[in-house]
Amino acid sequence: MSSDYRYKQLENWLLQGITEQRWRLGERLPSIRALCQERGLSKATVQHALQRLEARGFLEARPKAGYFVALKPGEMSKSFSRARIDAPRAVNISELLLDIMRRSAAFDLLPDLNSGDLPPGIVALNRSIGRSLRRQKGEGYQYYDEPAGDWRLREQLALHSARRGWAVSPDELCITSGCQHALFLALMASCERGDVVAVESPGFYGVLQLLEQLGLRVIEVPTSVESGMDMDALETVLKRWHVSACVVSPTFATPAGSLMPTESKLRLLGLAERYNLAIIEDDIYADTALGTAPDPLKAMDCDNRVILCSSFSKSLSRDLRLGWISGARWHDRIQHLKLVTQLATSRYLQQGVADFMADGGFAAHLRRQRNELRVNRDCLIAELRDWSGDVRVSAPQGGLTVWVELAQPVDTLKAYPRGLEQGVIITPGPLFSVSGQFTNCLRVSFAHPWTASRMQALGRLPMLLAGSV
Ligand SMILES: Cc1ncc(COP(=O)(O)O)c(C=O)c1O
Repeated sequence: MSSDYRYKQLENWLLQGITEQRWRLGERLPSIRALCQERGLSKATVQHALQRLEARGFLEARPKAGYFVALKPGEMSKSFSRARIDAPRAVNISELLLDIMRRSAAFDLLPDLNSGDLPPGIVALNRSIGRSLRRQKGEGYQYYDEPAGDWRLREQLALHSARRGWAVSPDELCITSGCQHALFLALMASCERGDVVAVESPGFYGVLQLLEQLGLRVIEVPTSVESGMDMDALETVLKRWHVSACVVSPTFATPAGSLMPTESKLRLLGLAERYNLAIIEDDIYADTALGTAPDPLKAMDCDNRVILCSSFSKSLSRDLRLGWISGARWHDRIQHLKLVTQLATSRYLQQGVADFMADGGFAAHLRRQRNELRVNRDCLIAELRDWSGDVRVSAPQGGLTVWVELAQPVDTLKAYPRGLEQGVIITPGPLFSVSGQFTNCLRVSFAHPWTASRMQALGRLPMLLAGSV
């Protein structure tokens, strides 16, 4: 029997086991050694079969732990609806959507709980910031920090990026007040009022708010739940309209957590060069990767036109209000705009975070958080897939949310006020578009542990949605 045939046989046998739920979602497969013994195969053959299943999205490799079931076959092929392409338009966000944005920024099904202990990573971070405060002396408090931000923090960020495959110098980074501020600076530097900006659809509502405020027009580009912005659709758009910038999240785009494959990234860079686009990469979810985070698009940017924006908000704390930007050919203008819009960033906060990173506290926090997020995600997906009717659920390998699409007629916008009455916050699909699409969709977060009250809130969703038609 050829080795080619053997790995395929094993692959099919494992796939069948997953389909028949011999190993359920989130469960560990037998070890490589056990599979070698049980199936009489070499280690290379077993590894090859497992890696192929991982590449197809059925398994997830966890360092030092083995291979785990990631998806149910069949779910992968169930396709989600695709956004439509409309002509560029001005953004006009309604009061209702603003209200939902304000509440859903908390990423929770429950309103403001404020309960539970602080995670050890945040305790350690607070200690670092406290130490940095106590070190303050002299008249430093009467001066602003330089606009680019604290050198040591930028150095730590550069080291952190290098570990992920992006070599950047601290000079190429500028500290901002969160990722939203970074996105704001990127749009201001690369676009003029009235310009058209391409965004993912469904995509991040914060960008839509920025476009509205900056007087920019939007064009929504269909975005796949699995592989991110559709490059064929983007090319169609670029052939038809003049677009100045494209905001994209190749690594775990919100709301579905999609991951852009390398071929699409290369195509995006090619299109950007051909049509002279600024690419604004929102990389905020990279550090929530449940496995290894892929290189950012910025790491492949030979033409110096990818502006990378990120922050600690999703990986560490939203309350820090610390982010960063690497502005490519617009970097000088971006630093100037940082000065104009913020003057400077708090020095003791930056120094505290730099210490926390240098001491290994951030890396340890990410390791712990990764394990917790994985449990939260698996639990959520298992619950959602038990809902009756035709329900599609994304299965992201990072990010903090899943995207849910219901085949039956529901209106998640109508369900939102009814949810509030019952103490449940629904994040309706239309929030992720400017054109009223995705009424039968919602985003559900797995950022928090599934406590009894959260499980109850989740359990109330099907009734709330059923009554929303
Ligand atoms: C995709 C995305 N980008 C940017 C932001 C804003 O992040 P920050 O809190 O760092 O301003 C968010 C926050 O929800 C987000 O989801």
